[in-house]
Amino acid sequence: MKTLFVKTYGCQMNAYDSARMADLLAPLGYVTAEEPDNADMVILNTCHIREKAAEKVYSELGKLRILKEAKARAGERMTIAVAGCVAQAEGEEITRRQGAVDIVVGPQSYHRLPEMIARVARAGGHVLETDFPADDKFDALPAQTSATGVSAFLTVQEGCDKFCTFCVVPYTRGNEFSRPVEQIVVEARRLVELGAREITLLGQNVNAYSGTGPDGSAGSLAKLLHILSGIEGLARLRYTTSHPRDMSDDLIAAHRDIESLMAYLHLPVQSGSDTVLDAMNRQHTRDDYRRIVERIRNARPDIALSSDFIVGFPGESDADFADTMALVRDIGYTQAFSFKYSKRPGTPASAARKQIPEDVKSARLQELQALLTEQQNRFNRSCAGRTLPVLFEKPGRKAGQAVGRSPYLQPVHVDGAADLIGEIRDVAILEAQSNSLKGALARAKPREMALAT
Ligand code: SAH
Ligand code: SF4
Ligand code: F3S
Repeated sequence: MKTLFVKTYGCQMNAYDSARMADLLAPLGYVTAEEPDNADMVILNTCHIREKAAEKVYSELGKLRILKEAKARAGERMTIAVAGCVAQAEGEEITRRQGAVDIVVGPQSYHRLPEMIARVARAGGHVLETDFPADDKFDALPAQTSATGVSAFLTVQEGCDKFCTFCVVPYTRGNEFSRPVEQIVVEARRLVELGAREITLLGQNVNAYSGTGPDGSAGSLAKLLHILSGIEGLARLRYTTSHPRDMSDDLIAAHRDIESLMAYLHLPVQSGSDTVLDAMNRQHTRDDYRRIVERIRNARPDIALSSDFIVGFPGESDADFADTMALVRDIGYTQAFSFKYSKRPGTPASAARKQIPEDVKSARLQELQALLTEQQNRFNRSCAGRTLPVLFEKPGRKAGQAVGRSPYLQPVHVDGAADLIGEIRDVAILEAQSNSLKGALARAKPREMALAT
């Protein structure tokens, strides 16, 4: 038996990839470990989206080097692999900066890990794979073997052709690619067999999904959701991340027509200023975004909206930032992520002359986050007194407690629900806490009353 430690940074697609790498190495005898200390194999699955994310990897590698040396003194070997978007973006630079790294493998080539590990064991030295190979990674991966939990991720689309001027994803993940429908259905069924009740479909641009259907025709995310909604035992569907430009009519209608599609949508707008949106190459205006949201709310009035924001994009004026604040007030988000613009090597915006000073970025971020937090709290408080269906995912911190999610993705803590993991129950929401809700199992109606109503 050998041990494997995987550390995951970045987005949910990396979390999915990490699980697949573990599946891939399981037949070679690798069992996953919680700590890197004595592991035979360590994989850092990295993120390149902001400078901080990328720099974290090098400090982690410094610590791993010490563990690797300690293991070597005991006559054993620790193989260190850097996977993910930093691997793709920086390639050989990684082994130059940190000689303890044995393997550098990009997000499109990790199905080749077994042969790469064998090559390192045989010949030593560094091995690098950062091509976008012609063979299909998904075809080469084994079926999932280990349980992925009540709520599982399933990557259906990869890459991005949008080229927002701030973003590295089109360079690290390559062109848009959609998996065929049948392959996804097989995987979804497998996840349900392994205990999943909810599946979140993933893609850097998931609503641009266009995978081939069983009849050979190009599909859409809406069609895929309709097909998956027919899988028995699959109670909930979600998808992320979407681009406003790809919110098609049939996808909006799916929010009205598919009961298992949860009333929650992460639809990043990045900025509320038309000047900034244009400079970002987002290819829509703030009014386009408002209209899209209006159409979605017509189809699904209770939909909870989430977004990503970037403050301090090159050239962003006080007036531009005020437009972002105004848009947030108009739309009303139930949760959101916001970031200071980070210069990324090779992206057009990093070369722009009018970079925004750090203190201005910090002040704007603080102001925006205060508003977003206030909106989130208001939404959470508005749920108190309501009864919401909760899918229980895992035990809570207290004995007997379980944590689940509402349709709007809020974590809900419920006492006396520990035996309900994997089940959906009506929960009376008692109070809103900072980032979660507290509730109690709603008592089933007495039989007579149920008959009388
Ligand atoms: N495909 C998604 C975004 C993936 S990256 C979309 O189009 O919305 C996740 C988020 O990171 C982005 O939405 C953006 O808000 C943020 N981000 C990307 N590049 C960034 C950069 N250079 N600086 C700061 N934030 C960035
Ligand atoms: Fe990046 Fe834009 Fe593509 Fe999203 S749509 S992954 S922000 S380039
Ligand atoms: Fe990061 Fe790559 Fe995801 S850069 S956000 S891990 S696609």
